[in-house]
Amino acid sequence: MTTGQQPQGSEAQIAVHWREEGYFYPPAKFIGQANAADPAIRDRFAEDKFPECFKEYADLLSWDSYWHTTLDTSNPPFWKWFVGGRLNASFNCVDRHLARAGNKAALIWVPEPETDDPQAITYRELYRRVNEFAALLRDFAQLKTGDRVTFHLPMVPELPVSMLACARLGVVHSEVFGGFSGGACGDRIADSGSRVLVTMDGYFRGGELVDHKAKADEAVATARELGAEVDKVLVWRRHPGRYASKSPMVEGRDFFVDEVLADFRGSLVEPVSLPAEAPLFLMYTSGTTARPKGCQHSTGGYLAYVAGTSKYYQDIHPEDTYWCMADIGWITGHSYIVYGPLALGTTSVLYEGAPNYPDAGRPWRIAERLGVTIFHTAPTAIRMLRKLGPAEPAKYDIHFKHMTTVGEPIEPDVWRWYHESVGKGDAVVVDTWWQTENGGFLGATLPALEPMKPGSCGPGVLGIYPVINDENGDVVAAGSGKAGNICIRNPWPGIFQTIWGQPERFVQIYYEKYCRNPDSTDWRDWPYFAGDGAVQAADGYFRILGRVDDVINVAGHRLGTKELESASITVEEIAEAAAVPVLDELRGRAVEMYVALKPGFTPSTDIEQKVAKAIETHIGKIARPMHVWIVADMPKTRSGKIMRRVIAAISNFQQVGDTTTLSNPEIVDDIRHHVQAEKVARGETPRELTPQEAEEIKSFGHAE
Ligand code: PRX
Repeated sequence: MTTGQQPQGSEAQIAVHWREEGYFYPPAKFIGQANAADPAIRDRFAEDKFPECFKEYADLLSWDSYWHTTLDTSNPPFWKWFVGGRLNASFNCVDRHLARAGNKAALIWVPEPETDDPQAITYRELYRRVNEFAALLRDFAQLKTGDRVTFHLPMVPELPVSMLACARLGVVHSEVFGGFSGGACGDRIADSGSRVLVTMDGYFRGGELVDHKAKADEAVATARELGAEVDKVLVWRRHPGRYASKSPMVEGRDFFVDEVLADFRGSLVEPVSLPAEAPLFLMYTSGTTARPKGCQHSTGGYLAYVAGTSKYYQDIHPEDTYWCMADIGWITGHSYIVYGPLALGTTSVLYEGAPNYPDAGRPWRIAERLGVTIFHTAPTAIRMLRKLGPAEPAKYDIHFKHMTTVGEPIEPDVWRWYHESVGKGDAVVVDTWWQTENGGFLGATLPALEPMKPGSCGPGVLGIYPVINDENGDVVAAGSGKAGNICIRNPWPGIFQTIWGQPERFVQIYYEKYCRNPDSTDWRDWPYFAGDGAVQAADGYFRILGRVDDVINVAGHRLGTKELESASITVEEIAEAAAVPVLDELRGRAVEMYVALKPGFTPSTDIEQKVAKAIETHIGKIARPMHVWIVADMPKTRSGKIMRRVIAAISNFQQVGDTTTLSNPEIVDDIRHHVQAEKVARGETPRELTPQEAEEIKSFGHAE
């Protein structure tokens, strides 16, 4: 069966054809134990129950005082949830479990070296560590409610401990993914106005003890260039008492946390009772400009939303051993390694290292040893594990009842391997679509109630009412299979509150495009623009097609083209740069850079390498381009804008389409010959793109 219609109308309405996949149904065993097994749950979250339906999520938390207004829409789109309520996130994730589950593991940390045993940290032990570090932050670092603190921490238990210690004080944490460069960390320190940086000396990744503290020095220097002074760098040590970095400690600025903590042994810090609206953390993400956006998440709404979705969509019960193999440096880790699972009092597994270290059987050995019941990962990891060890899962005694995927579209073929080989045909698979801005899931199937369909995330989740709009603001008929921009018609508790320090951009990027009346205080006039293309099939399931803005999703990580380009032009020889996505077997998309040189310079591999290095320095290794192509000139419109879709087509061996609007059409053939000849010489032969991949490339950078 084919869903879709012939192209017509605006570009956003171009129909996408694909083979409709069949359904898979959850096993009876799963349904029998599921948190959401009563179909009436859909009625409880029906639109006429909005916004009160979200009381069900808020009631999963312990409130110091209950709220009086579920949703305040008086200042759109700055929605306020659970107004009047007060609570503390650290209390909700730690203290309140002590009486019932003090001796149960809250976290199980798996160090990368396989010779080191996993370490269980009970709720009581977590309570002790969080209190002591909170006391240190308050009394030694002089942090108080509302201050921001930046973390640049790897996947170690000190990360959730640091987060929960901040949450206890109402200090707003801003964790920067450990793999990001010192420069990227420094940008975020300056943007958030943090004067304290929490880092670690080193960590294991791919068999190496990485020197991480060196990045802290770069971060502080970058922040200083941007006018922000860091007065304390708190350095956790991977092996307390033993310093793993070559970078010297700076007298009066850098402190070993394990040493300072000696003064805080046994300290207890009363959790600060905070308004539901108090910011809990910032999480930076990429967008259409070079400056990353600090997404500000709330305490009450966010925590309620991640607790609710963890319960119904990940089916977490307190007795589960739950493993999300993401990094806490991303929103997935914040919501679904730390806050959601711990709010529900379950055991959450944390793995330090690379999924394929020392081989592709590692995740399955961890799962077998710990008795993991719920497994959560990204398509990029699944593709890699399948490629490196398709037969590995069968060798281990693993039994997942539930598996999730997040971060990018998953190819049906990859989905089936995940279901059959990893899940042994016996686990439900939930494909969860959402974003850094959203706090928690937006599109997914209720695992016991809605069948799975490979490649589709499913319908809007409970209390989320999506719609597809075309470029003109008209609604694309529900279930028509026509592509457009997916929007959420209503606010929800997990939505971010603003972009830190840039409220105008918050309104402009997410709400302006489809706002029906800027003077209205009715939420119905303020749909949320997600920046993703999507189609909805007749059964109501959404298939996400990818970003419609200037973002490239590499291995589930968002990279802004402008960030990549501004990093490239820091290289002296570079005059202009353009970043485009290229289809990649493992990472979904990879980055290719096109650069033009300033007059007087000649192309060389040295320059290409400088560009790649600059990107690594400014952003991090994950952003390293597959290729840097030096071109004589960029294809440009008559108004001088670079036509990224033309070079994206070349990189992906697609038709370049109409080039009559270019001021320099002759350049296109030169670039194509140069790039494609070299690709073919390197064995990078083109493969046929699916219609939706072709559509993505064709419309890349269309916003210009
Ligand atoms: O394009 C969508 C894609 O990842 C983007 C969000 O990236 P980020 O903010 O880094 O958050 C990732 C984890 C929540 C989205 O705009 N995306 C995320 N999940 C899916 C997805 N695309 C398809 N299917 C998904 N399940």
